[in-house]
Amino acid sequence: MQRIKSIMIPEADVKRRVKELAAEISKDYKGKTVTLICILSGASIFFADLARELDLDVRFEFMSVSSYGGGTVSSGEVKILKDVNHPIVGQNVIIVEDIIDSGCTLSFLKRVLEQRNPASIKVCTILDKPSRRKVDFKGEYVGFEIPDEFVVGYGLDYDGQYRNLKDVCVLELTED
Ligand code: IMP
Ligand code: MG
Repeated sequence: MQRIKSIMIPEADVKRRVKELAAEISKDYKGKTVTLICILSGASIFFADLARELDLDVRFEFMSVSSYGGGTVSSGEVKILKDVNHPIVGQNVIIVEDIIDSGCTLSFLKRVLEQRNPASIKVCTILDKPSRRKVDFKGEYVGFEIPDEFVVGYGLDYDGQYRNLKDVCVLELTED
């Protein structure tokens, strides 16, 4: 059984940081239309909060990806389970993600999407675990850098659970 060990980032801090990120993005893209790509399912909550704070014209797209080989393959190859519904050529794209861990998912995804010739492409993530990187990757907009702990809540799951928690929490992993 797994339980919540502690709160790492309380809801109020997350909310404040989302507003700051949105203000920064709104300033950087002033007068432009932005295509936000939500990486399902983890980024869903952050995506909805961020999008509503943006003072910009935005389009919504959704993608779903999964790692090949259950984490045993370190090539960074990722499988696209659901792709965007419209071409992104010529658009200002921001990939919205829950967390950057090894960096494999986003470095693959960014490369794939760059090949489709968007006008620009950046990454916005609410969480980042820089100490876990297997490939060199940096997000342009990062909410919080966190230590190497497994977190749940605010969209992040453990085995499909805990996504609806309002705080970012640390999970206690036990045997029973
Ligand atoms: P990576 O950067 O390719 O290693 O993968 C990032 C993905 O791994 C995220 O989109 C999450 O789905 C998942 N992930 C990484 N760290 C955590 C965590 O602490 N809690 C929940 N999911 C995580
Ligand atoms: Mg994810």
